[in-house]
Amino acid sequence: MSQVKIVNVTKQFGEVKAVNCFNEIIRDGEFVSILGPSGCGKTTMLRMIAGFEKASEGEIYIGNSVVSSDKNKVFVPPEKRGIGMVFQSYAVWPHMNVFDNVAYPLKIKKIPKYEIKKKVNKALETVHLDQYADRFPSQLSGGQQQRVALGRSLVGEPELLLLDEPLSNLDAKLRESMRFEIKEIQKKLNMTVIYVTHDQAEAMAMSDRIIVMNKGIIQQVDVPNNIYEKPANEFVADFIGKVNFIKGISNCEEVQLTELECNIKYHSVINDNVILAVRPENISLNKEKGDIKGNIIGKFYLGDTVDYRINVNKKVIRAIIRADIDSNFKEGEEISLTLNKIILFKDNGQCSDIKITT
Ligand SMILES: Nc1ncnc2c1ncn2[C@@H]1O[C@H](COP(=O)(O)OP(=O)(O)O)[C@@H](O)[C@H]1O
Ligand SMILES: [Mg+2]
Repeated sequence: MSQVKIVNVTKQFGEVKAVNCFNEIIRDGEFVSILGPSGCGKTTMLRMIAGFEKASEGEIYIGNSVVSSDKNKVFVPPEKRGIGMVFQSYAVWPHMNVFDNVAYPLKIKKIPKYEIKKKVNKALETVHLDQYADRFPSQLSGGQQQRVALGRSLVGEPELLLLDEPLSNLDAKLRESMRFEIKEIQKKLNMTVIYVTHDQAEAMAMSDRIIVMNKGIIQQVDVPNNIYEKPANEFVADFIGKVNFIKGISNCEEVQLTELECNIKYHSVINDNVILAVRPENISLNKEKGDIKGNIIGKFYLGDTVDYRINVNKKVIRAIIRADIDSNFKEGEEISLTLNKIILFKDNGQCSDIKITT
């Protein structure tokens, strides 16, 4: 059993609350990402699960046992938590070959040689490095070195694997292919994985669920689709994907877009000042007259899409149109915008209300 239960965990570094009242249950066999900007407390949370950092408050359970509790003065050291961990700086030892790097955690546990050999070979096979056992890190590519670190974290056959931005030192192409490799290893070994990243595409592609954090506080926990389509607040809408925010006032029947000086029909339960969020790909542009008029002030052809900047009443709105259905508008041209799918937030950044406009 490798469910992880985190109850009211807080970590204080002097004045800084790096993690503030973190509560979540990561289920056995689940792949969960902790996603957020740099400095939001991701590494600190992961290190507390691993036991490299002591929580100031709260409890952490791995499986059925408590591994950290300030109340009951419990603190199980990292090597007794049954976890594998990969760090951002993958830290393979340059003076050891691949085999010895991967064997290291078993050697310090004084496991018999023949057993080490069996386990290391299995781990190397899993990370596709069985042909490279004799090589030294300097003879390997960045991706292969990261696989050595991954192999080393798997060699103890952990039920829980913790990964802290393991791909951020790799180039973009390799990063994408490693995502699938890590996912495959997780499925094959049926592990629980907690994956820390600031890269939203990575989190979206790999995770069963995503925990979005900002300033030490959980903002939303949900499946990737809901994080994107139903962000809980402006921070999440902004951090995940691209978005235009437009100020307005909703009276349940329509939204007066004060910033754009126009109105759109939109039923909602909000009778208040609002922030309307619309993703650039949910805007369409047309020549016919509509409610929202603007001028094209910028246009970027990106192969699969065309990325437009449109001036609407001095506010720049971004619209991304699929290249195959793009009407090839010119800079300076007057067009109208249709907002196909919008999200309303009360203008306190808290409550959300999702509907599809028709
Ligand atoms: N050992 C430490 N001592 C003091 N402050 C720390 C320490 N580790 C992290 N912090 C602070 O805690 C906050 C969260 O850091 P961290 O967990 O590393 O964020 P992330 O991994 O999301 O980038 C930051 O403000 C950071 O400066
Ligand atoms: Mg970090």
